[in-house]
Amino acid sequence: MVIKNDFSLQKLNTFGLNVTAKHFVELNSTDDVIEFFKSERQNNERTLILGGGSNLLFTKDFDGFVIKINIGGIHVVKEDEHHFWVKAGAGVIWHDLVESCIKANFGGIENLSLIPGTVGAAPIQNIGAYGVEIKDTFEALEASNLETGEKKYFKNQDCNFGYRDSIFKNELIDKYLITNVILRLTKQPILHTNYGKIQEVLHELAKEKITIRDISDAIIKIRQSKLPDPEKVGNAGSFFKNPIIPIELLNALKKSYPNIPSYEQPGNLVKLPAAWLIDQCHFKGMKHKGAAVHINQPLVLINHNNASGRDIVELSMKIQQKIKNEFGITLEPEVRII
Ligand code: FAD
Ligand code: EPU
Repeated sequence: MVIKNDFSLQKLNTFGLNVTAKHFVELNSTDDVIEFFKSERQNNERTLILGGGSNLLFTKDFDGFVIKINIGGIHVVKEDEHHFWVKAGAGVIWHDLVESCIKANFGGIENLSLIPGTVGAAPIQNIGAYGVEIKDTFEALEASNLETGEKKYFKNQDCNFGYRDSIFKNELIDKYLITNVILRLTKQPILHTNYGKIQEVLHELAKEKITIRDISDAIIKIRQSKLPDPEKVGNAGSFFKNPIIPIELLNALKKSYPNIPSYEQPGNLVKLPAAWLIDQCHFKGMKHKGAAVHINQPLVLINHNNASGRDIVELSMKIQQKIKNEFGITLEPEVRII
């Protein structure tokens, strides 16, 4: 376990922002985690756990400890007639876990193909895509308390999962280091093909029996056609959450915008596509200093030319202001701004 000082995070965040950590350490196993808690680090410095850095926006150098989690391993830990329980280390690349489950024909996370980042971060915002969220297969996670090192087991119902939300973004933010995640996957996969263009893409295959591999391939194709690859253009996926508003506000907006798309939610609420709202305000391709709004998906902000974190935040605030004025809706960032 080597502690490095003034360590560059530029290659460790998908916006590619040129910032440093005052202290930086990589933990490669649960033994490293135990050793780390025994070490002399406990000097009240601010701490940030880092996975793949694909949902973070650094606005300045981090004046504290950045702990990069590399804990590996994917194992079946239990089995019954209908399910496999799979335990994966927090540092496993999320898509590698998806791939190994598809290869083994374990169903449940194929719709979450190609989401960047690590297994340990996946429960933090309850990652979701194409009609599925991790909460649907999530059994439990193991974590260590960042102050005491004490281990704790969180079951599904302990995590308060919601849309892009969990207890780890709220009352337990920066309180626990997740070491492992356990998912409950099905032996007879239930296929989720109703969302967006999945069926359209599957139809082109003209196959009689669709497999989880076909679904994964279709989703990868759709994602690659819409979202910029962070290896080529710095970004962190959707910058804002899709807003959830009362149905009365939607009805009022329909007078001026009869074609506004919306998705029903429980409790007289509706979810609106933030991309549509931003598109209506003609932000596509708009540049602000080194930051820009992606030309195809206006919910994605990009580092188009050596942007600073501040450039991206300023652009995001311009968008928020305009959407507030135009629609009376507050857009909430999905990306964590540090
Ligand atoms: P990081 O960005 O490193 O960290 C995110 C948060 O989790 C931070 O608060 C961090 O402190 C905390 N954290 C990370 N690891 C741990 C740990 N082991 N223990 C405790 N806390 C931890 N998200 C979706 O939900 N759906 C999508 O479809 C989607 N598409 C995306 C597409 C692109 C191109 C990009 C760049 C991002 C996309 N995202 C999507 C967002 C992102 O991939 C997810 O939020 C992902 O889970 C972040 O993982 P990470 O390892 O990079 O986390
Ligand atoms: N739209 C426009 N103009 C555009 C693009 C989209 O008006 O240029 C409208 C259309 O009405 C479209 C709608 O926005 O139907 C939704 O767009 P899209 O299908 O691309 O999905 P999204 O709402 O932008 C969400 C998630 C993604 C996830 C996809 C697929 C959020 C904040 N984002 O995107 O997650 O991959 O659905 O499920 O919920 C992420 O969280 O980082 C992320 C990429």
